[in-house]
Amino acid sequence: MLIANVSPRTAGKTTDSGLMAHALLAAEHPYEVEGYDADHSAQFWDWAQKAKFPFPVHRQPLARFYRTMEKPTGRRYVGIVDCGHTENHPDIADAVLRVADLVIVHMAPTSADFERIVNPPDATPLFEVIERSESHRPDQNPPETWVLLNRCATNARSVKHYREEMDEEGYNVFTATIPRSEVLAQAVGFPVSDAAVRPFATLVTEMEKRGILPT
Ligand SMILES: Nc1ncnc2c1ncn2[C@@H]1O[C@H](COP(=O)(O)OP(=O)(O)OP(=O)(O)O)[C@@H](O)[C@H]1O
Ligand SMILES: [Mg+2]
Repeated sequence: MLIANVSPRTAGKTTDSGLMAHALLAAEHPYEVEGYDADHSAQFWDWAQKAKFPFPVHRQPLARFYRTMEKPTGRRYVGIVDCGHTENHPDIADAVLRVADLVIVHMAPTSADFERIVNPPDATPLFEVIERSESHRPDQNPPETWVLLNRCATNARSVKHYREEMDEEGYNVFTATIPRSEVLAQAVGFPVSDAAVRPFATLVTEMEKRGILPT
């Protein structure tokens, strides 16, 4: 399966992509993982080179992503796509959303991230970007979409508040959240530590329980 990590702007996607991939590799029944860097910044790809990731990350910031990417067919295969900003590169986002099996929207529980996703002053709301992919998809349905709240302060009211707000906007929201932490803030570019992967292990367990990862 192919997971597209998206957001309208900078939102922790590259950090989450790298750490989620490692959590999938470290699962009790490990998954086969491959990364796809669909962002011109090439930071996911660069991190993989610098830190010698134990899986390949392909560099494909392409509006023809859906044509060029070859989806491995292994039963427990998970491809992780780090997309560029949907606001600035809608052509690439559209191309990835044509073939994604699951979309994860990355956001902090803040008004700035919420507004940028739901009610941007000068961009297409993300929900519409995802929905419009349906006409290009084999089943004519938009991909299943979940929100991952990241950079969450411990016990902050904002987490519950924006979970409810996103729920009201029609999004599924993971129970697992990613904390705001210095270890995670400094993760990109360096070998991945167990401490950095831990919150993502909880996410992988939740995804398994919800039946949205291959069995
Ligand atoms: N869990 C976290 N806690 C604290 N800081 C974080 C966390 N995750 C990411 N950050 C910080 O947030 C910033 C953005 O992270 P990242 O580069 O992963 O986002 P991105 O969505 O890939 O951005 P872009 O789309 O611009 O490439 C970085 O400074 C990173 O250190
Ligand atoms: Mg990035």
